[in-house]
Amino acid sequence: GTTLGTAAARSGRYFGTAISASKLGDPAYTTIAGREFDMVTPENEMKLDATEPRQGQFVFTAADRIFDWAVQNGKRVRGHTLVWHAAQPSWLQSLTGSALRQGMIDHINGVMAHYKGKIYAWDVVNEAFSDSTGGRRDSNFQRTGDDWIEVAFRTARAADPAARLCYNDYNIENWSWAKTQGVYTMVKDFKQRGVPIDCVGFQAHFNSLTPYSADFRTTLRNFAALGVDVQITELDIQGAPATTYAAVTADCLAVPRCAGITVWGVRDQDSWRSGDTPLLFSGNDRKPAYDAVLDTLNAA
Ligand code: G3I
Repeated sequence: GTTLGTAAARSGRYFGTAISASKLGDPAYTTIAGREFDMVTPENEMKLDATEPRQGQFVFTAADRIFDWAVQNGKRVRGHTLVWHAAQPSWLQSLTGSALRQGMIDHINGVMAHYKGKIYAWDVVNEAFSDSTGGRRDSNFQRTGDDWIEVAFRTARAADPAARLCYNDYNIENWSWAKTQGVYTMVKDFKQRGVPIDCVGFQAHFNSLTPYSADFRTTLRNFAALGVDVQITELDIQGAPATTYAAVTADCLAVPRCAGITVWGVRDQDSWRSGDTPLLFSGNDRKPAYDAVLDTLNAA
């Protein structure tokens, strides 16, 4: 393959990027994004504050701009994200208890109904675990009771049975991290009890504090063995070392249930990590990391 998408497709995988609606008017951006990627994740436009700014009033203008661009250009869409402690509209932040629980359920139903049958996978719940302990992160949703995550997944399955349902998080790539073990235990429990979960998203935001480690492959294998797909959902690596990008790509290719890789932005200038140059393009130019990823995909 001569692009990331076609090279990943050689082994039945996808290669995606985060897309911002505000950049779809930039031809330099859409030229690269349109050519290289076959999966799209809206970077912010499907979040809670964007899609339900007032309770019960759903807004899909920006999200649809990305969705329509993706479909018109032959790409699939990952939905990101239905339930999260961040990017919450103020009405949601002011709710507690059963009102908040119902607000969560209504939000999932409202967003998923709009895209019913059209989304490859939804990040149903994002970042629900604590960074340090392996337990749950404190949040307004967590304070409604431990079962909020499984309620979110059961609601999502009923709302759109065609979408794969993912749990998505960061700092769960290294098998030895407590957070990884906490999420693994939850997924194992969900599979044992029949809570509907189809995939785990490993964000893979690597930097010097939480660096890539070769046991990412072990983590992907162990989660896949629970009976879920694994996806690399927000990949970016501080400084974009070609060898690390190649290693992450090889890890996915080594695990049959690794469905695909998404990078968190097109060019360095599009990254949320300003100054880190963590992506595959600089301006219009392919970086060495791009060649490393493409060669690794083509060797599979
Ligand atoms: O466009 C608005 C503007 O209208 C507003 O007035 C202004 C003031 O806040 O900022 C602009 O919004 C910002 C938005 O990015 C678009 O640039 C938000 O403040 C800012 O918080 C938002 O940051 C996003 C962040 O998630 C929080 O939602 C980043 O772009 C996005 O890359 C980042 O992505 C997250 C994933 O969703 C989950 N995993 C971690 C990842 C990186 O933090």
